[in-house]
Amino acid sequence: MDLFEKIAKLREDGLAQIQTAENEKKLNDVRVALVGKKGQLTEILHSMKEVAPENRREVGQKVNELRDIFNARLDKAKDNLLKKLVEEKLAKEAIDVTLPGRKTYMGSKHVIRIIQDDLEKFFIGMGFKVVQGPEIENEHYNFEMLNLPKDHPARDMQATFFVDPSHLLRSQTSPVQARTMEKHDFENGALKMISPGKVYRRDDDDATHSHQFAQMEGLVVDKNITMGDLKGTLEAVAKHVFGQDRETRLRPSYFPFTEPSVEMDVSCFNCDGKGCSVCKNTGWIEVLGAGMVHPNVIRNAGLDPKVYGGFAFGLGLDRFAILKYGVDDIRDFYTNDVRFLTQFRQEED
Ligand code: DAH
Repeated sequence: MDLFEKIAKLREDGLAQIQTAENEKKLNDVRVALVGKKGQLTEILHSMKEVAPENRREVGQKVNELRDIFNARLDKAKDNLLKKLVEEKLAKEAIDVTLPGRKTYMGSKHVIRIIQDDLEKFFIGMGFKVVQGPEIENEHYNFEMLNLPKDHPARDMQATFFVDPSHLLRSQTSPVQARTMEKHDFENGALKMISPGKVYRRDDDDATHSHQFAQMEGLVVDKNITMGDLKGTLEAVAKHVFGQDRETRLRPSYFPFTEPSVEMDVSCFNCDGKGCSVCKNTGWIEVLGAGMVHPNVIRNAGLDPKVYGGFAFGLGLDRFAILKYGVDDIRDFYTNDVRFLTQFRQEED
């Protein structure tokens, strides 16, 4: 076989090898074998001495031509392999846009917070200010200032958690009354305040009892405050929360810090007063405790009970939520089951 035939054969074989190299590594081997320094083309050039001098030029030309062809094909093959690789990768990692997306869940206001915010807005509209007090309270404010001296039997009305001999987790929001009244400058006008917050009592938790719940305290103190003011204010609250067509009534009751003391009932919103399981067939539902501030409480705050007086009330925010939304287990308020919590989602959340 003369050199021309060799070149022609190399061309045929080489192109076939380039075409069948199935990956970059194999292609590189082919490149080295064909056009590398010690490759087959170089080998042909080395055997030039065997070629008749008049043919050498042509052989040289053919070899160069073939090197160009090989190089061009090798580059092209490499491009194709890369393209194939990218295509395979794309196919493998393709995103299936028909898969359902991952949902992010929006939080929502807690139902107690909803009731609290609503009541705050309501009372602020009537000129009340919102006051906070400490949850770890001392006996002085939780009891003594509220006309509950040591050994007073009414201290047993609320089983308390003591944290040391004189401090306790407040059992009611009423101490905030005493704290605020003591500080208020009555020369500058009436005190009208509410104080929402958590309270704690020793209780065995079940569907209707909880060791922690939320209350809202209210207090109005000035000269010439009457029981009519108390009745009008509480009636407005009850109608605001439970509906304008509710009836209300006050029943005599007992709290150490008020005299007289009352409890307010609203006509049952479930049966409209006819009698059902919600109102235990009485037609009425108890919603809060209230009364005219006891002269001792006024005196304890440094005021003259002959000049100053007022009314106070305490309502349970949990109780309001239970009644308003028909919640049947008070523990739902603090066990954080989102299926419960999201039921109260509001538009503006
Ligand atoms: N502190 C009372 C309780 O927790 C509720 C209460 C009743 C507060 C009458 C008052 C009030 O201010 O006047 O049971």
